[in-house]
Amino acid sequence: MSLFRDATRWLVRAIALFAILAVIGLVSVFVLSEAYLRDVAPPPAFSAVIPTDSTSIAYGRHLTRTRGCFGCHGQQLEGQVFDYWPWVKRAVAPNLAAFAKAHEPATLEAAIRHGIGHDGRALWSMPSYNFVHLPDSAIAAMIAFLKSAEVEEHELAEPAFGLRTRWWMARRTEMHMQDWAERVPGMVVGSDEQDNIRRGERLAMTTCNECHGLDLRGSTAEMDISPPDLAIVAAYPWDDFVKLMRTGIPIGGRDLGLMKVVAQDRFAHFTEQEVEDLYAFLRTLPNRPVASDVFWRPEAE
Ligand code: HEC
Ligand code: HEC
Repeated sequence: MSLFRDATRWLVRAIALFAILAVIGLVSVFVLSEAYLRDVAPPPAFSAVIPTDSTSIAYGRHLTRTRGCFGCHGQQLEGQVFDYWPWVKRAVAPNLAAFAKAHEPATLEAAIRHGIGHDGRALWSMPSYNFVHLPDSAIAAMIAFLKSAEVEEHELAEPAFGLRTRWWMARRTEMHMQDWAERVPGMVVGSDEQDNIRRGERLAMTTCNECHGLDLRGSTAEMDISPPDLAIVAAYPWDDFVKLMRTGIPIGGRDLGLMKVVAQDRFAHFTEQEVEDLYAFLRTLPNRPVASDVFWRPEAE
């Protein structure tokens, strides 16, 4: 009888101890993950004047379209929930038109170019690393457009991080968006090279590097798809490149999946001049060295 009572008592103690350890573990993961999200360097001051003329606003709309803001934030900028991103429980791209009206230009710029949210925490799913090389004038035009955009009210769920993401954050095995943004390499085109090549590099480094590697030379990191080294464009005749940009259909007609989606949503809106500039720059890539010691291409030879 007393043996049974002792055994029960020990079992209860063991369960209580386990529960306490589990709670301590969960609280630690939460606290450490929040500490990482708050471990951000303050961004440099942003004081560009936000234009109000219609030409700048139209240019801002063009940038917003070609840089994919509509694709993620909704075609009316009304916001969108990404329940299916398995590494986050629920990423929520906010209502961008409403957000732009509610916040200062510097707050928007910190999110767009530096991966820092309005609450001072680093962003996680917003691809700010893709916008690092947008110049002040482009950011200002984009903010002008966003502030002028009509707000479409739309119910959105609250964002939430899953335990797996929190675990990565706590151990800092995955980077938050400011850390990503800081690792974007500089431009490689020299000042002695042609203007269209320079413009093409800036375009590529603020659109294609979202997927094709931070340096455009291919990415194998964390994607089950492997967007190739864009030196492949040297093998594209001009007409085929135009078709790829306008429709997402490559030479041979294969279905490129995500590439097709972004070509139709974003690149189809490039001006003729922009497609020419991109083509001019990307065709110089085979003559430029490729870094191999970079984290976004761990299997590179
Ligand atoms: C791949 C999808 C994606 C694209 C492309 C994208 N965003 Fe986002 N954005 C998000 C998500 C998701 C969030 C919510 C924060 C997070 O999860 O990192 C967000 C958050 C934001 C925020 C709010 C940050 C805060 O303070 O909470 C702003 C501002 C923003 N995005 C602007 C833009 C602009 C401007 C563009 C285009 C240049 C753009 N985004 C392109 C997904 C995207
Ligand atoms: C949102 C992600 C994404 C962006 C942004 C993106 N791509 Fe891609 N791209 C892909 C993926 C994924 C593939 C590979 C698809 C496959 O091989 O199945 C690809 C493939 C390609 C190919 C190879 C086509 C072939 O013949 O096999 C070219 C060329 C290309 N992209 C050009 C570009 C250019 C130029 C840009 C910028 C203007 C760009 N991509 C931006 C995802 C992207």
